[in-house]
Amino acid sequence: MARHLITSAIPYINGIKHLGNLVGSQLPADLYARYLRGRGDEVLFLCATDEHGTPAELAAAKAGKPVDEYCAEMWEVQAKLAEGFGLSFDHYGRSSSAQNRKLTQHFAGVLADKGLIEERLEKQMYSHADGRYLPDRYIEGTCPNCGFEDARGDQCDDCGKLLDPVDLINPHSTISGSTDLEMRETKHLYLLQSKLKDDIDQWIDSQDGWPVLTTSIAKKWLHDGDGLQDRGITRDLDWGVPVKKGEDDWPGMEGKVFYVWFDAPIEYIACSQEWVDAGKGDDWARWWRTDKGADDVRYTQFMGKDNVPFHTLSFPATILGSGEPWKRVDYLKSFNYLNYDGGQFSTSRGRGVFMDQALEILPADYWRWWLLSRAPETSDSEFTWDQFQTDCNKDLADVLGNFVSRVTKFCRSKYSEDVPAGGTYGDAETALIADLQTRLTAYEAAMDKIEIRKAAAELRAMWAAGNEYLQAAAPWSVFKEDPDQAAAQIRLALNLIRIYAVLSAPFIPNASAALLSAMNTLNTDWPTDMNDAVAALPAGHSFTVPDNLFAKITDDQREEWSEKFAGKRD
Ligand code: 2FM
Ligand code: ZN
Repeated sequence: MARHLITSAIPYINGIKHLGNLVGSQLPADLYARYLRGRGDEVLFLCATDEHGTPAELAAAKAGKPVDEYCAEMWEVQAKLAEGFGLSFDHYGRSSSAQNRKLTQHFAGVLADKGLIEERLEKQMYSHADGRYLPDRYIEGTCPNCGFEDARGDQCDDCGKLLDPVDLINPHSTISGSTDLEMRETKHLYLLQSKLKDDIDQWIDSQDGWPVLTTSIAKKWLHDGDGLQDRGITRDLDWGVPVKKGEDDWPGMEGKVFYVWFDAPIEYIACSQEWVDAGKGDDWARWWRTDKGADDVRYTQFMGKDNVPFHTLSFPATILGSGEPWKRVDYLKSFNYLNYDGGQFSTSRGRGVFMDQALEILPADYWRWWLLSRAPETSDSEFTWDQFQTDCNKDLADVLGNFVSRVTKFCRSKYSEDVPAGGTYGDAETALIADLQTRLTAYEAAMDKIEIRKAAAELRAMWAAGNEYLQAAAPWSVFKEDPDQAAAQIRLALNLIRIYAVLSAPFIPNASAALLSAMNTLNTDWPTDMNDAVAALPAGHSFTVPDNLFAKITDDQREEWSEKFAGKRD
């Protein structure tokens, strides 16, 4: 049995994520985890909230709450939404955990021992009015690159350029608005990534079949300009992992914390320790330490393209530089962006559909199916209400839902709520079974390669094949002359419902569970030989007619929603 470690990029704690965030990491990671579990593999699927850094502090201040309290509350909110979307994490951790604090300090200690961390004196913006330094988002001003007036200290939201607070024109504090700022000397730690450049380069080159999106971003950062830069890994903030060298104080670094991007990926490891400490698992090291059995693990990471540099360069620099036997990622699946109705999703402007709103208007499976079947894999993709309505109504209601409803209702009215006996399979049935076998192989191949759109297309084709068979076989006509033969057709179709439930579970787990319950079976065996699979529910096996699986999205709903989500959320 293969063992798979799967992590999704950990979402920032500040605020509820939109559907573009969801489809860029957590949702495809869940699809893959569910698929591998369905095939009988051992899976450890981890995610957490990313709780440190200026965004958390600022959001807490806006909410008028102490930052730790704010994070604890938002963790609850995000965990609930994750559950609502059926995200099947083995553990949903927190980067502010004691485990992550300790492990982050451990990494800093070993990296320092290896000569890979350097103390540097540098100038940072200090605000007299606020009595503090202003890192990253605590400072705003005009972007020197594009002239955008509300550029943040770490990045311009308009042109995307990464910035240093000192680059900003007319800088001001986002706390007090004060422009009474001064450049003051302060000491910070730098991770000497430049020393690890060749190791990282070789490691990237040795990867087989990574998405071009992933490797091209990594290569650009490794080779463009002056190549891989050393990275400041500390900040003058209160909230975060206090800077320590292992368990020891770090003289001169009192009152400083590690930069959020230093501790966040370490949470992938710490999360497995939280999982054990929560009593859900008994050995984290066999997933993470190659000296403790993790050599057999295949580790896959999921993330949006903006996160790729941190996962191909910074985090590998941390674990590679430690010289310790940590498991490294085997496959890094990255995503482009999902746009919203002719523009971008925007958290600050409340544009687009956010996770809580999505679940208020439709069950999770609609969203899961649409987002995954149109995942932004090879290019950015776009959510439009028209497309969403058309796809859901066609794929889910007309094809899958309609098949289930016709078959179960026909059987109940002409025979009973038992799988009917009689008749034999002829050419049409043999052809359908062979077609499904071929498509199953293609579906598995796509899922194994995490080609999500392709996998969705194969699954949809399997649903459609059942529908077409039913249309051509027309048991409702055959029944009049030859009820035995119609019984064989319906027996096959009822078995297809179980097969669809099993194969579709990674995409639409709730509908899948409803189908299995209607089919009154606990048999969730992944089909291998379709000839066997279509006989899993024998004649005499009882079932019930399920409620309508997928109600159609009406034109009125479409209009209402497209208006509702166009602007500012409250
Ligand atoms: O972009 C984001 O949402 C970050 N919070 C992702 C962090 S992933 C990791 F490094 F932990
Ligand atoms: Zn700009």
